[in-house]
Amino acid sequence: MSYRLLRPLLFALDAERAHHLSIAALRLLPTRAALPQDPMLESSVAGIRFPNPVGLAAGYDKDGRIAHKMHGLGFGFAELGTLTPLAQPGNPQPRLFRLVADRAVINRFGFNNGGQGAAADRIARYRRPKGDGPIIGVNIGANKDATAAGRGIADYVTGVRVMTPLADYLTVNISSPNTPGLRALQGRAALDDLLGAVMAARGGDTTPVFLKVAPDLEPVDVQDIAAACLDHRVDALIVSNTTITRPALRSPHAGEAGGLSGAPLTDLSHQRLTDFRRLLGTQLPLIGVGGIATAEQAYARIRAGASLVQLYSAMVYEGPYLAKRINAGLKRLLQRDGIANVAQAVGIDA
Ligand SMILES: Cc1cc2nc3c(=O)[nH]c(=O)nc-3n(C[C@H](O)[C@H](O)[C@H](O)COP(=O)(O)O)c2cc1C
Repeated sequence: MSYRLLRPLLFALDAERAHHLSIAALRLLPTRAALPQDPMLESSVAGIRFPNPVGLAAGYDKDGRIAHKMHGLGFGFAELGTLTPLAQPGNPQPRLFRLVADRAVINRFGFNNGGQGAAADRIARYRRPKGDGPIIGVNIGANKDATAAGRGIADYVTGVRVMTPLADYLTVNISSPNTPGLRALQGRAALDDLLGAVMAARGGDTTPVFLKVAPDLEPVDVQDIAAACLDHRVDALIVSNTTITRPALRSPHAGEAGGLSGAPLTDLSHQRLTDFRRLLGTQLPLIGVGGIATAEQAYARIRAGASLVQLYSAMVYEGPYLAKRINAGLKRLLQRDGIANVAQAVGIDA
C-alpha cells in the first residue's frame, strides 16, 4: 500500500501508537537487504565509510530494534537512542504531537528507553563484530535523576563504556530539551568536564565520538562549543536537535511544551550549521539535521558544510522511502552541477 493511502489511517491514531506500529512494521524488513551503493554518494567521515549521506536521526529507534534494517529503506546510516544507563519511563503521555498544518512534530518524551544494558544485549545479537554491515551510531544521554543530582557526566562515561563495543560511532547528546538541566552541559566549563571525561573513558579505543547540540544557541555558545570540540578532539558535530523556540505555527498543538522539529526548524538548523562552519572551516566534520524533507534541502545543507545529513520528522509526513528519494534527488543535483562525488559538494557555499 502506498504511504499516501496509509497516512490517513496512521494519522487517525494517537501519534505515539502510530510510532510503535511503524516500528513493528519495520521489524518485518529483511535484515540482509543489500547496502545502498553508489560511488557518487559514498564518502568517508571521521574514518567511517558511509554508503550515502542520508541518515536516520536519533529518537525514532530509541532501543535499537530496527536500526540495522534501515539501509533497506535507503538510509546510509542509522543512529539509535537516546539510551540512558538505566531504563526510565520518560514523561507522562500524551507527549508526542503532530502539527500537520506545519509539517512539524513536538515531542517531550524525556528519554523514555529500556536502558543501555537491554539495548546492548539486543544489538549484540545482530552485530558482532561491529563494522560489519550497516553503519550504526549509538546516541547516549543521562538519566533524569542523575542529571537532577548533578551526576550527569558519570552517566555519559557509563554510556561510552557500555556502548563502545557495539557502535560504529557514539553521539553525546546534550541537547534534548526534555530532561531538565541537560542543556546546561553545553556551557563551556561543563562541556570541558564532560568531553574530558568522555574522551578519557574510551581508553585506547578509537570509536569516533560525535557531539549533538541544540539549535537554540547564542553566538558565544557557538564559539565555546566549537572551541571545546577542537580542544577535546571530538570527531564530528551534529547540528541540531529540536528547538524550544516557537516560530509562527498554525496547528492546534502549537502550544504544547517540548522540542519542535520538522519544517519550522529548517532555517534555524541551517543557520546554526552555517555558524559552526564559519568558525570551524574544515577542521571538524558537521552533520546537518533539522527540517530536511527534500533533496534540495539536503543538498543545501551539504553545500553549507554538512558532510552528512539526518532526518526524522519528514518521514512522518513523506513515508518510509523518503531517504531513497532524497538520495536519488541528490544524485541528480550533483550531476546537474558537474560534481563527481558528494564529498566535493561539502561546504562549497560556505
Ligand atoms: C519524536 C522525536 C523524538 C526524538 N528523540 C531524540 C532522542 O532521543 N535523542 C536525540 O538526540 N534526538 C532526538 N530527537 C531529535 C531528532 O534526532 C532531530 O535532531 C530533530 O528532530 C530534528 O530533525 P527533524 O526535523 O528531521 O526531525 C527526536 C525527535 C523527535 C521528533
